[in-house]
Amino acid sequence: MTGRKGIILAGGSGTRLYPITMGVSKQLLPLYDKPMIYYPLTTLMLARIRDIAIITTPHEQEQFIRTLGDGAQWGLNLEYIVQPSPDGLAQAYLLAERFLDGRSSAMTLGDNIFYGHGLPQLMARAEAPDAPAGTVFGYRVADPERYGVVDFAEDGTVRALVEKPEDPPSSYAVTGLYFLDGSAPLRARDVKPSARGELEITTLLESYLHDGALGVELMGRGFAWLDTGTHGSLLDAANFVRTLQTRQGMLAGSPDEVAFELGWIDREALAERAKLVEKSEYGRYLADIVRAGK
Ligand code: G1P
Repeated sequence: MTGRKGIILAGGSGTRLYPITMGVSKQLLPLYDKPMIYYPLTTLMLARIRDIAIITTPHEQEQFIRTLGDGAQWGLNLEYIVQPSPDGLAQAYLLAERFLDGRSSAMTLGDNIFYGHGLPQLMARAEAPDAPAGTVFGYRVADPERYGVVDFAEDGTVRALVEKPEDPPSSYAVTGLYFLDGSAPLRARDVKPSARGELEITTLLESYLHDGALGVELMGRGFAWLDTGTHGSLLDAANFVRTLQTRQGMLAGSPDEVAFELGWIDREALAERAKLVEKSEYGRYLADIVRAGK
């Protein structure tokens, strides 16, 4: 098991999804049959990470605790950290400094949904003995100007990262999944607020880049990095999950299924979870898995 710890950043005011997010956190909105945060949680689990801190706004923390608990039902240790005000992604490393306690980390944004064959292997590359101190994941998008973008050198290494460029140097967005070593909180202290007043993740990553310690792994054609930023894209993402699950009879983004597959919970524990949610379609999927066994 890796000593790497996980962080899910689920703060933010969600104003782009108003009025829906006036009363509920964006990261708890339904993505078809599960709360959105199940998906990034499952991503970290697929990286074999069991100690995970969930960073939320002060007033929404309770909603997350009600939804996820202490994680024991999935063989996880979940901790909750408050972000008093949404001052940027790099702030997560300052807030999580005590939790990380010098360990390396994988941070993902609570609204980033990854799906694809080979995702565990791709993340394992960031964990390899010869991996750089920091790894980001690039994904080709039609609208790179909305994201942090990778500027590649001729040899395919990262030359620069540019946050929301008017004239993108490539079509590869930096996704919201960051594997950084134990120096991240220390480096985050040197990040100064940007013009939009945020501690930008891109500035933190530049510190790694400056030290020649930032690698990029590309997610190819077979991957889905789904957008949940607008009402329309949220519906599209939900339909994607529904199509996939209905066709394959397998779940996407289920911490229950992944915990069972990884052997972190046994059949009895899964059966207990299935019982808890038995009235829903999700519960019926779980019951099928219990019946099929391993
Ligand atoms: C943030 C990051 C950006 C990254 C994106 C991924 O953007 O600043 O580099 O590409 O997340 O979702 P924001 O969501 O703050 O606009």
